[in-house]
Amino acid sequence: MHTLEACRDLDRRDPLAALADRFARAASGRIHFDANSMGAMPVSAPERIRRLMTECWRDKSRRAWTSEGWVERPRQLGADISHMIGAGPGDVVVCDNTTVNLFKVIAHAWKLRAGGDVILTESHNFPTDLHVAQGFVRLLNDLGVDARVRTAQTRERLLDRLDRDVAILYLSHTDYRSSERWDLAEMNERARAAGALTVWDLSHSAGALDVDLAGAGADFAVGCGYKYLCGGPGGPAFLYVDPAHQGGAWPAISGWMGHAKWDRFLTEYEPDPGTARHLTGTPPVIANEVFAAAAEIWREVRREDVAGKHESLTETLIALLDEECGALGVGINSPRRYPHRGGHVSFSHPGAGPVSEALVDHGLLCSFRAPSSIRLAMSPLYHRHEDVWQAVRIIKDVLAREAWRDPKYQVVSI
Ligand SMILES: Cc1ncc(COP(=O)(O)O)c(C=O)c1O
Repeated sequence: MHTLEACRDLDRRDPLAALADRFARAASGRIHFDANSMGAMPVSAPERIRRLMTECWRDKSRRAWTSEGWVERPRQLGADISHMIGAGPGDVVVCDNTTVNLFKVIAHAWKLRAGGDVILTESHNFPTDLHVAQGFVRLLNDLGVDARVRTAQTRERLLDRLDRDVAILYLSHTDYRSSERWDLAEMNERARAAGALTVWDLSHSAGALDVDLAGAGADFAVGCGYKYLCGGPGGPAFLYVDPAHQGGAWPAISGWMGHAKWDRFLTEYEPDPGTARHLTGTPPVIANEVFAAAAEIWREVRREDVAGKHESLTETLIALLDEECGALGVGINSPRRYPHRGGHVSFSHPGAGPVSEALVDHGLLCSFRAPSSIRLAMSPLYHRHEDVWQAVRIIKDVLAREAWRDPKYQVVSI
């Protein structure tokens, strides 16, 4: 039985417990279980922004570019989070958004491919991932180059379709709906055996799971900065390139910030020797300042502690949902075995849409995905096992009283 006392006991033994105070709780007191959508705000973020506006923008003006390290920030932030994805500090940059970074790494991978003209992915990959592949292939086709996107509806089919025609195996590590997770090392190995390179979207993994890109032999990866990484609303994304590939090709967007000697204003492009060649133009200083508030926390944590706590939180959630809500129509959609499960836990209920609306009103922020799933995502940095216990108490109450049947909950927001 997962009692409140048992949850509190887990919290007392949590090596990350002290970090919860470095994140702001919602003023409403609501529990935000949407780390897969927007991570919480580090307490230091508002003061950082105040200082940036006054001491930096107002007082130092352009001199802050150098004295505040604004130009170096995309590299610095990449180094700060690199251990969380099993990368070397110089192998990650934080820049642009996930969509733009997907395009950049697909193009890079395409140029280095051993052969083949197929980008292989899942038919239900996140829309932007699919759109980027479709657009990239269309660009190549318009230029007279053979290229195709090949999709698979199931994991078994995908494995069948991973043949010598595949140039790039292009996957989201964690499925954004079910939270099913691929085995990173196994898929890199399979891709290598087929002569393909791998491009991973880690948006629903980074900052929650034990992702070891270098150890697992991944070629390229990107991911959102604003989810589990807590980089702020619309905050920049990250981009990783295996050191073996970094110098192999010009970046798809050859901008001045990716130049090897950007501060010399040379007219001929010369790519930075490493991952930083994928930087494009002037970095978003304000967004990067917000990200830096989270990055200073990431620098202090160990990946194994984060992953261990994530496992414990999600195992507790599933056990409590089974115990308390199983008889009320709740079914677990996500894999039950932790190595197969990604960042969030998804459960089904026949009234999922209205239930999710009622939960928000009753103090639990979660997200709904049609037709019948509710996603709950906890952050190992700031959630406690006691929050999980409270969340399940709210879910049980809303379901047992059928509060979700109230007409005001029948219009469902996305
Ligand atoms: C798997 C995945 N990739 C990409 C994105 C969005 O990327 P972008 O930062 O370009 O909006 C999301 C957004 O939720 C996502 O879930």
